[in-house]
Amino acid sequence: MTDLHSHILYGIDDGARSLEESRRMLLQAREVGYRRIVSTRHYPNNQFKGDGEDFSISQRLEIVKSEAETLGMEVLRGAEVMISPETLREIEDGQADTLGESRTVLIEFQVGSIERGGLESVRRIVEAGYIPLIAHVERYRWKTEILGELKKLGGILQMNMRAAALGKDQWREWLTSGLIDVLATDAHRAEGRSYELTEEIAALKSLLGEERFKILTEINPERLLAGEELIQWEEKPEEKISSLGKLLRLVRRKKK
Ligand SMILES: [Fe+2]
Repeated sequence: MTDLHSHILYGIDDGARSLEESRRMLLQAREVGYRRIVSTRHYPNNQFKGDGEDFSISQRLEIVKSEAETLGMEVLRGAEVMISPETLREIEDGQADTLGESRTVLIEFQVGSIERGGLESVRRIVEAGYIPLIAHVERYRWKTEILGELKKLGGILQMNMRAAALGKDQWREWLTSGLIDVLATDAHRAEGRSYELTEEIAALKSLLGEERFKILTEINPERLLAGEELIQWEEKPEEKISSLGKLLRLVRRKKK
């Protein structure tokens, strides 16, 4: 699998706090099947102090990259850009910190952002020649129709794996109807918001089937890095009912 949203780089934001924690996260990620991770630190990161040392993002990236290599994995540079008038201007000036060497920019909005603002930002980013990958779309309480509008404008929708597996029925419907394009971890720590996702992955494979799970966790992420068209699908209603039933049974069993 390929993770396009991860705070694995240590001491930069509210993600990993030390090289040791980055290492543990790599091991956990490998254990559940990740081979490639884009490190997406928060940008701008004024609200986060890092570990207070004189750090350079590229130096730390090199260190984590070589750790990853020893495990047969790859870590790429990226960012999670908080959309504001300033960051939008930077993107329009061609200064977006993209995922790997691609044209894809991982973006997020302030929680409670109005739908119109989201649509307008996505339109401007696409016009600037970038592909906006909208982080954790489940967080904004936007209506399903708005998500459809965002996609029509060229936005790509990412959902967090934990929310997708154990969250609201409506979120699972977004997944099973084919609205969501990418699943990512948004991992921050070796505990809590971590890569320990064995149960979530099993539940999602059961909900979506192996093939669709692979599209959301590997094929579409790789295509975004390579600048290729994504795979879309539409599900038949009877398939949707049976897969939702399956997931609910799994979650209930887990709770017992
Ligand atoms: Fe994030």
